Amino acid sequence: MAPQADTDPEGVRARIEALPGAAEVRAAASETAVDAFFVGGSVRDALLGRGRADLDVLVVGDHLALARALGGETVVHDRFATATVAGPHGSIDLARARAESYPSPGALPEVRPAGLAEDLARRDFTINAMAVPVTQPGELIDPHGGRADLRSGLLRVLHDGSFSDDPTRALRAARYAARLGFEIDDRTLELLRAADLATVSADRVAAELARIAGERELRGALELVRDWELIALDPELPALAAAAAGLVSVEPWADLTDRSAIVVDATLGTALAQARALAAEPPESPWHAVAAARGRSPVVLVLARVLGAEWLDTYLTQWSRVRLEITGEDLLAEGVEQGPAVGRGLSAALRAKLEGTTRGRADELRVALEGARGPEMLL
Ligand code: CTP
Repeated sequence: MAPQADTDPEGVRARIEALPGAAEVRAAASETAVDAFFVGGSVRDALLGRGRADLDVLVVGDHLALARALGGETVVHDRFATATVAGPHGSIDLARARAESYPSPGALPEVRPAGLAEDLARRDFTINAMAVPVTQPGELIDPHGGRADLRSGLLRVLHDGSFSDDPTRALRAARYAARLGFEIDDRTLELLRAADLATVSADRVAAELARIAGERELRGALELVRDWELIALDPELPALAAAAAGLVSVEPWADLTDRSAIVVDATLGTALAQARALAAEPPESPWHAVAAARGRSPVVLVLARVLGAEWLDTYLTQWSRVRLEITGEDLLAEGVEQGPAVGRGLSAALRAKLEGTTRGRADELRVALEGARGPEMLL
């Protein structure tokens, strides 16, 4: 049975229709006569009175017909029967209403076309499982009590299998709870703590972490990931990752890397351990700084900086930019054999330049030749 439309004292329809692109969706849905609904985050955020950059539209039937009628640049994802239309109206996510079944926990679902009720029932949280018809009369369709949960500030799953079907929803819960300041319903919390992210591909986990990285409440979201033990995190990681994410918006660190790389590499990789090691040993000289920092990933450098390695500011703005006037070719031309001797020579010249003991090309070449012919340099 189709879910019943609810009355809507908060005027959710009016708020959605005020969003960029909503009028175009309405016109395109009338033109193509498809059965379309605003859903998911669009409805949730409209009820909350939060602004939103993209619209989520569900089509019971041919979503691509609606995409064509909207015009704009369309990217079609066949696997889940979804499409994104980008145009002057902003970004609109279109999906064909579907039911999902999970062949095994954590695997991507198998999907088949379905009606609105089934589509809402396959979703992650009640607050994301509401719809507003695009053209038909009627206001909020809320079969799972999403509006009541929004009012109480609660995240609640629709059924007990939600996190075993898709454990990435546990990371989504951390993201929404931190963003909205919501509590987790007791039963949902119990289920969430049992979510096993090991059943999910690393790419999908990384994609959810990247979305966490985009949140203003990044630190709070990562604290939940840590406290719920979804991923084994260094206790300090949430604070460090948040500080690092802040650092890459100010000079001289701006744009060295991005927030997603920081969160993903610190959470799933070895970046934090490397950064701790780097920050633990302040270099004795510019040359030692270059030797320790060069070749490190930007994420390691940013994390080491927030761990207190202030010398990295000078490394970034000065020492790392020091370039020799000579190259390996010059050493080969002087008869140095191709191989480690060339690197040894160039390192010796760079060290001398950083220490201020060479001036000009000829000087560099002299030091480089001595270095190339001498024993391996010990730091
Ligand atoms: N969804 C889900 N399970 C997932 C991912 C998404 O049920 N693992 C559903 C939710 O109903 C969600 C909708 O698909 O509302 C769209 O997903 P997404 O674009 O990731 O989220 P938004 O609701 O748009 O939220 P956000 O504000 O974070 O973009």
